[in-house]
Amino acid sequence: MSFSDLPSLHPIFVHFVIGLLILSVILHLLVRLLPKMFQIKVREELSIMAKWCLWFGVGFAVLAVATGFLAYYTVSSHNALSHHKMGWHRNWALFSFGLFLILGIWSFVRIQKIRKISYFFLVAIFLGGIALAETARRGGELVYEYGVGVEACPVEDGPLHDHH
Ligand code: HEM
Repeated sequence: MSFSDLPSLHPIFVHFVIGLLILSVILHLLVRLLPKMFQIKVREELSIMAKWCLWFGVGFAVLAVATGFLAYYTVSSHNALSHHKMGWHRNWALFSFGLFLILGIWSFVRIQKIRKISYFFLVAIFLGGIALAETARRGGELVYEYGVGVEACPVEDGPLHDHH
């Protein structure tokens, strides 16, 4: 692998972040808002799972942000508009990361002290989930709409491939 391949590390890590943190948001909301849906044992297990997803999600987010900056400074295929879009994706990413980092530390520090998740925490993690979804949407837009980091498909001389 050469140095120019490194930007492609970013898409590997971002999907862990999105999966783990969105699952954590859903589990926190379910356990707190619909506790009667589950037996006590299941509820406790889901609650533990919600925290581990949050902590691992934040860990992967550190890698996603680091590789994001690497991609930001090394992607070759982009113009002024896609550069502008990259800036917005970066800003949403840093906002979501900051929020989840605080929530992760908060949840870790207070784990021994309180058993019930506060409504303030719940609202904050819900907003974090929305911000992360917007970050991911903007990341996908960069690649699939603006072709950032994409190598062009080779142009063939022959007839176009049109069966799908
Ligand atoms: C929580 C952190 C982040 C998440 C969840 C995230 C999410 C994403 C997603 C889903 C994509 C599309 C990947 C694909 O489908 O191929 C993407 C692409 C991209 N992101 Fe991020 N991102 C994050 C942080 C950052 C940061 C901090 C930067 C810049 C400083 C950045 C720069 C880029 C660039 C340049 C691309 C297009 C090139 C590539 O895919 O490598 N990202 N991001």
